[in-house]
Amino acid sequence: MRIAPGHEVGRTPCLRPAQPQPPGLSVEGPYSARFYRIPVGGLRVSRRFEHRPVLLNEVVEAMAPTPPGVLVDGTLGGGGHASALLRLGHLRLLGVDRDPAAVAAAAEVLGAVAVTGSGADVFTTPDGRVTLVRGRFSDIEAITEEFGGGSVSGVVLDLGVSSPQLDEAERGFGYSRSAVLDMRMDPDLGRSAATVIAESSEDELTRILHTYGEERFARRIARAIVAQRTKAPITTTTELAALVRDAIPAAARRTGPHPARRTFQALRIEVNDELGELDAALDASPGTLVQGGRMAVISYHSLEDRRVKRAFGALTTRPPVPRGLPVTEDDLVASGEEVGYRLLTRRPIRPTAAEVAANPRADSARMRVLERMGGNVA
Ligand SMILES: C[S@@+](CC[C@H](N)C(=O)[O-])C[C@H]1O[C@@H](n2cnc3c(N)ncnc32)[C@H](O)[C@@H]1O
Repeated sequence: MRIAPGHEVGRTPCLRPAQPQPPGLSVEGPYSARFYRIPVGGLRVSRRFEHRPVLLNEVVEAMAPTPPGVLVDGTLGGGGHASALLRLGHLRLLGVDRDPAAVAAAAEVLGAVAVTGSGADVFTTPDGRVTLVRGRFSDIEAITEEFGGGSVSGVVLDLGVSSPQLDEAERGFGYSRSAVLDMRMDPDLGRSAATVIAESSEDELTRILHTYGEERFARRIARAIVAQRTKAPITTTTELAALVRDAIPAAARRTGPHPARRTFQALRIEVNDELGELDAALDASPGTLVQGGRMAVISYHSLEDRRVKRAFGALTTRPPVPRGLPVTEDDLVASGEEVGYRLLTRRPIRPTAAEVAANPRADSARMRVLERMGGNVA
């Protein structure tokens, strides 16, 4: 969590009970989140740039039966999911994003203003119903402790990058327009993609491209990167994209998406430690839920979805009844050893064909939902 010096911990705006929504809480339409041109930490976000929330109705449906309380949107983005969830009426919002441009844009959409002394890292609405924090969702326990009163009614994670991050050339996530090879969601934290490319060995680069991009030509691309950087550093998106295209066999260039797509995905995951962040959030979030509270995670590739499936599965699988002991499953339940969570999605929820037609970026989305039950929970 990034709290600027001088910001007093303990005097931060704890979310207050729901009050009537101020007019500032409306967005332009059910699927759009407005982005404004505001300088944030040296970055500029496009005015009226849109990120269409994926599986919006499904997320709202999943969170509708939660008890009144705080909803953590750990991937606030442009505030599209958050706005719709606030309209349910019974939830207060604790919105989190590691990208300061996203937090500032969502603050505009939700009518929140910077808290004095927070260095523009914390925003709140006048009625206290919305608090927005610049931070990482891996810190969910500390963030909910400080801003949400400890336990929460819901957690939503809509993983990956937002459309403005992908489409703003200067963020360095895309390969079609030339920009500095950056890819950091938080521009103040960690190594840029250019630094990863400059500093990693051929073996490390191969591992990154193979593991995070499932790139079958990982070794060839890594070798080409190492050869090129001995002549001159690789600093722009288009340089890297051209290098990847030239490194793979000619036949592989002719089919499928852009040959650099997997390399860019892999570097983005490495630069932002996306899987480490997800593992930490999956570990910590279920314990923050109140009874009846729910957690929904939308993932966009198999590396993420596999982790969500495994984590939710582990929480909802009853330990086997010990063999040879005179104990039945009913005895275990009666003794309080019951499962503390319930899986609400045996199969992941996928977008409809109509949603994918309207928003091709929704195509790979999969949502899984977990509920905390009553009874004894470790
Ligand atoms: C797909 S967008 C979310 C869009 C959002 N649901 C909406 O409706 O506008 C993902 C967002 O999550 C943020 N993000 C990704 N990883 C994060 C992390 N570990 N901690 C906090 N925010 C993160 C990104 O900066 C990005 O703004």
